[in-house]
Amino acid sequence: MIDKITEARKEFDSLVSKVHDLKSLEELRLKFLSRKGIIQNFFEEFKKLSPDEKRNVGKILNELKTYTQSVFEELKERLEAQKKKSESFVDVTLPGRERQIGSKHLITQTLDEIKSIFKGLGFSVYEGPEVESDYNNFEALNFPEDHPARDMQDTFFINDKFLLRTHTSPVQIRLMSQKKPPIRAIMPGKVFRNEAISAKSYCLFHQVEGLYVDKDVTFAELKGTLVSFIKQYFGHDVKYRFRTSFFPFTEPSAEMDVWWQPKGKEGRWLEVLGCGMVDPNVLKNVGIDPEEYVGYAFGMGIERTAMRKYGIDDIRILFDSDLRFLNQF
Ligand code: DAH
Repeated sequence: MIDKITEARKEFDSLVSKVHDLKSLEELRLKFLSRKGIIQNFFEEFKKLSPDEKRNVGKILNELKTYTQSVFEELKERLEAQKKKSESFVDVTLPGRERQIGSKHLITQTLDEIKSIFKGLGFSVYEGPEVESDYNNFEALNFPEDHPARDMQDTFFINDKFLLRTHTSPVQIRLMSQKKPPIRAIMPGKVFRNEAISAKSYCLFHQVEGLYVDKDVTFAELKGTLVSFIKQYFGHDVKYRFRTSFFPFTEPSAEMDVWWQPKGKEGRWLEVLGCGMVDPNVLKNVGIDPEEYVGYAFGMGIERTAMRKYGIDDIRILFDSDLRFLNQF
């Protein structure tokens, strides 16, 4: 048996010199140190020896055991350290990872552009809250309690008195209650409507409101300002028209359409904004004397404007956060 043990040790040493990774080390462990390995077998055999033989064999067998175990432990430690090191190795010749750089959403880009055009026309920018009082959103804008015009702007109510604003027009009320004329400002922001979602309408969208109040503001100035805007935004050859309309807070009121011709499809007029001269009742509601001051106002939908400009035919895509769409802008 002593010969067999010496043989085993030689075999172990020769195998150890061939171990170069954790996998071959594991093979070595299975062969020698596992429960069914060579060394355990020796111990089984050892049990059957006579006491005399046991004395001789016991010593070298134990030596073999501690020797193989310590060699194994040392190798394991070294190979594991090597593996760790190789994992943290930086290959400086690899191409760098491209960093994804975000960009402004198309709606934000459109708002920025609209703001910059109106700034050039002498307007400043104001913002109001998205949760608005029923008073500012409807009543002060001359929508009486039971007026049917309220039906066109159903929204999400917080309680009896507060709601998610249906348009940016209430910011007119806030502005005129805080500031004395002259006032010339645009008011961009999110608005909400309780509407069935479709390619044309969404429960959330954006508007830009405009207001100019002074002593001698005229409808001709309103037209001139809007035409100047529409040409700067869509290009000088844009086709547009004004139509008479109705809004409770303006008198007279109009709507402005631009000609929309998607590629390969039939062209049609697309409404981009509502406008008019501020109704004297609205001025009274905010404590401005309608005998002394006049004003014009307008409000436009941003999504529609952007859709017209970029040939987008489904509003929902603007809110989907689909990178394949967003990356195009
Ligand atoms: N607030 C109106 C809407 O959401 C749009 C509008 C029309 C705003 C005429 C105005 C205006 O300031 O004068 O439908």
